[in-house]
Amino acid sequence: MAESENIEWHHSKVTKEHRRHLNHHKSAVVWFTGLSGSGKSTISVELEKELHNVGVRTYRLDGDNIRHGLNKNLGFSPKDRKENIRRIGEVSKLMVDAGLVTLSAFISPYREDRDEIRELLDTGEFIEVFVDASIETCESRDPKGLYKKARAGEIKGFTGIDAPYEAPVNPEITVNTDNQSIEESVRAIMSYLKTQGYLE
Ligand code: ADX
Repeated sequence: MAESENIEWHHSKVTKEHRRHLNHHKSAVVWFTGLSGSGKSTISVELEKELHNVGVRTYRLDGDNIRHGLNKNLGFSPKDRKENIRRIGEVSKLMVDAGLVTLSAFISPYREDRDEIRELLDTGEFIEVFVDASIETCESRDPKGLYKKARAGEIKGFTGIDAPYEAPVNPEITVNTDNQSIEESVRAIMSYLKTQGYLE
């Protein structure tokens, strides 16, 4: 709900289209969603490197990093996760306006919250990537030892254990890291961006 009144939008003389023209590529947010340990961050890091190597201006937003700064006042209750994703959605929108290919990697467990970001952006600017991996795979990787803690009851409300994860219904891209390598996942996303005309 908007709290502020008497504010107007102030237009710039340099627009998103001007910035895209200067960059020679479109801007959009590649939104990674999936369980903790599914590979969102790893894939986004590798994808960013590939994009950078072909001259694409990028920025990466990542759950663990953003929770150190912008969102450090938020926890993992449903309400806080919703606010976490809402803020990242707004930041992603600004970055898309700035002309960047933005890579956002957050569990973002609620379908409704992700759909709100899709609505916030223009058509084609929200590319949802479902990083699919079974809970068994994620738990066996357990890179941060958090599943172990969650099973021991030391973390309450852990996604996939005692908090929900709602998989996307119609994502633009699905990668399955149970049986797909990081390189294969990156290639699939690069190929989508090329064939859909995001990269000139
Ligand atoms: S989200 O649900 O609000 O989208 P976000 O992606 O920002 O989550 O942060 C997830 C990261 O926080 C996980 O990768 C994990 O390292 C850590 N984490 C700490 N507590 C939890 C929890 N209860 N559920 C899920 N992840 C948690």
